[in-house]
Amino acid sequence: MSEPLPSEPSAPELPPEIARRRTFAIISHPDAGKTTITEKLLLFGGAIQLAGAVRGRRNEKHATSDFLKVEQERGISVSSAVMSFEHLGRAVNLLDTPGHEDFSEDTYRVLTAVDSALMVLDAAKGVEERTRALMDVCRLRTTPVVTFANKMDREALDPFDLMSNVESTLKIACRPFTWPIGMGRSFQGVYDLIHKRVVFYEAAERGRANAQCFIDDLHSPELDYELGAPAAAKLREDLELLEALDPFDPVAFAEGRQTPVFFGSAINNFGVKELLDTFVEIAPCPQPRATTSRVVQPGEERLTGFIFKIQANLDPAHHDRMAFMRITSGRYERRMKVRHVRLNREMAINNATVFLAQDRVVTEEAWAGDIIGVHNHGGLKVGDTLTEGELLKFTGIPSFAPELFRRARLLDPMKSKSLVKGLEQLSEEGAAQLYRPLEGSDYILGALGSLQFDVIASRLESEYNVRALFEAVPLGAARWVLSSDEEALEKFKRENRHRLFTDIAGNLAYLAQSKWSIDYAQEQHPKLRFVATMEI
Ligand code: G4P
Repeated sequence: MSEPLPSEPSAPELPPEIARRRTFAIISHPDAGKTTITEKLLLFGGAIQLAGAVRGRRNEKHATSDFLKVEQERGISVSSAVMSFEHLGRAVNLLDTPGHEDFSEDTYRVLTAVDSALMVLDAAKGVEERTRALMDVCRLRTTPVVTFANKMDREALDPFDLMSNVESTLKIACRPFTWPIGMGRSFQGVYDLIHKRVVFYEAAERGRANAQCFIDDLHSPELDYELGAPAAAKLREDLELLEALDPFDPVAFAEGRQTPVFFGSAINNFGVKELLDTFVEIAPCPQPRATTSRVVQPGEERLTGFIFKIQANLDPAHHDRMAFMRITSGRYERRMKVRHVRLNREMAINNATVFLAQDRVVTEEAWAGDIIGVHNHGGLKVGDTLTEGELLKFTGIPSFAPELFRRARLLDPMKSKSLVKGLEQLSEEGAAQLYRPLEGSDYILGALGSLQFDVIASRLESEYNVRALFEAVPLGAARWVLSSDEEALEKFKRENRHRLFTDIAGNLAYLAQSKWSIDYAQEQHPKLRFVATMEI
């Protein structure tokens, strides 16, 4: 049943440094085990030495992803970070996606910067809501997805049911690469369909790779002895059923139509090594990216890249901002001069930062597929393109219409300038959307999750020294308004001035009480387009 894995799904002419890059993110529902599995991956990659290091970050003062005070207070990961490590000769970049209930556009944008995704499921729960939302984004971009069914050491769904749950909710075919033997208390291990062998489970102490032993003959009596006759018979039966599945198809995987599935228990470090070994082999290397004028190939000699995330005050002492750039082609060299396309001006990237698990270091070079951090003082925005001269603009970096709205109210009326400045900068980072009214002076803030307001309030206070409250407003929906018919647009503007705003980029936005009001406006003004997603 095993078939050889495709060696290198990359274009052969890619420089080896690019071909060996694997840039991915984990998508999961809160509590499925993303943090735990991240830690195991970093342990295997030698990027951390101690179990608990990832979790422990939550309490440290200047920890890698603990950029925000509110994050420390709540013990959750609001910000995303990048973690790079080596495994089996591959350079792996793991982009962290915020995992809490509330999450922002950041999460979505991280997915624009990866070439593949690892979907972690709680095997007892199957596909949960957050996973579905994130998978929608992966599908938009045809991102290949590998699946890890976690927590097999607990009672879980029957693995066939779990696969059909994935297939029916996510419309993606499952192709198991490992297969569980039992679950919960009777979880005995997995059958590795690639190497055709049984790998026995031993509950390991947290973080330690467990001593593995194998049986590679499925028909050996030893198997009946080790597993017990009923479990051995069940395994043989299951494997026969699996024979009926379509074989692993690298093209279907690359197109997001088929997902390799692994079973295991992250907390016991079981099944994670099989996952990582295979993942670095089959996951795609850096992929071509579309711009408004042409497709950029990763192997092109000249550097190009786009900013997908901005983070302020990585180091609160320095009030700096870091722009996270996904390199889309070529090679970055220290002190390189690049063109900032939006501003059409040259800038030097002197001290690009790369992100190891627990460190940030200034790098001499980086390649397509890598994420570099570029220090700046506000010149870079999410969606910006940097090149070695060509005037390109990468597409596909989304901005979503927010669903929650608040009015910012100053607690200290003398600070209104600082408030506006803070709100503008934070919304440029993509922390929330700031709307300026066409009429009046009530600035409205829009977000996808209510936690974003807490984050902003906390940052306004610590970074801009402004204390503000966010008051509820009777608003429930926003749409950007587009039209090629000037007259129709002017008419709409005249009739709805008090509901019209401009966003930070100057686009016209209509804020309404509910989605119903938007539908009504659309009916009344059929020549206008009310859109919920915009490219930045
Ligand atoms: P998240 O980042 O996706 O939110 O999940 P996280 O890794 O924090 O894991 C959520 C909970 O599930 C944690 O328990 C974690 O220990 C547990 N967990 C992760 N993998 C496994 C597994 O393979 N088997 C079992 N049984 N549990 C697993 P917690 O009680 O919330 O935290 P903690 O007290 O263990 O730190």
